[in-house]
Amino acid sequence: MLKINRLNFSYTTTPFINALSLSIKEGSYVGIIGPNGSGKSTLIKLIAGILKPVTGIITSENENILALDRKQLARKMAYVPQSIDMTFNFSVEEVVTMGRFPHAENLIKKDEQSEQLVFDALKKTGLLELRNRSFMGLSGGEKQRAVIASALAQQTKLILLDEPTSALDLRHQQEIYRLLKRLCTDEGRTVVVVTHDINLAAQFCDRLILLNEGNIVKDGKPEDVLKFPIIEEVYGVKVYIDINPFTKSLYILPYNLPEYGSD
Ligand SMILES: Nc1ncnc2c1ncn2[C@@H]1O[C@H](COP(=O)(O)OP(=O)(O)OP(=O)(O)O)[C@@H](O)[C@H]1O
Ligand SMILES: [Mg+2]
Repeated sequence: MLKINRLNFSYTTTPFINALSLSIKEGSYVGIIGPNGSGKSTLIKLIAGILKPVTGIITSENENILALDRKQLARKMAYVPQSIDMTFNFSVEEVVTMGRFPHAENLIKKDEQSEQLVFDALKKTGLLELRNRSFMGLSGGEKQRAVIASALAQQTKLILLDEPTSALDLRHQQEIYRLLKRLCTDEGRTVVVVTHDINLAAQFCDRLILLNEGNIVKDGKPEDVLKFPIIEEVYGVKVYIDINPFTKSLYILPYNLPEYGSD
């Protein structure tokens, strides 16, 4: 589905990502984790074609993403950014409808299929009742769900999300992760999610990629990546790792956090 071959990228004169290679299979649910500044957003923006690599190739379904124009790319992949700024006063439904633009022949003409997809996306994200509200007047978590709904309406095989549940309450976090999981298992779509919520990622993702300083430190099943020496080294905190008796997935609790400035 997605192949990254020897990717190099830098923001400054110092190289940041060096010869990073990665393949992601169709239908998989991949979590990208790592400390602040480890390169998660950078990597997902490179995959989304927002940042251009210095060297290296990224292909999606065997097509070089750099050879595609924005509309072609948006038919292949949806991207939910880490922060959402919108200065125009669109309604929630209009924001979700924007997800259909890459497929639209004519923006004026009504399209029943698109309307149905927008309705489904609003329903799946619990936003039907808020559909006529102004996007700018929503709470942080409601905005986040509206942008996820827009990505769902885009109906792409690949969905990239950068911290999509950072503002969501416990129930909505679970619902979004479950919804994304269903897109993989029931519809064969591929989901790549950047997150700091390691416990959610461990519960739902079938593969985790741990980044540090622009490099992949560990890549595998949650149980292979979430080992305490690796996590303690990368995050610099002591962690307790156990199995959640209800979900049977791993969970992590940090403890013994060193103070800033202490040795
Ligand atoms: N536009 C930019 N110009 C210069 N440096 C940048 C730019 N964007 C990001 N960086 C730097 O690149 C590094 C990786 O940033 P990135 O946003 O990918 O981190 P991240 O893993 O997503 O972190 P977070 O968890 O805080 O979102 C950081 O050190 C950051 O300061
Ligand atoms: Mg980030």
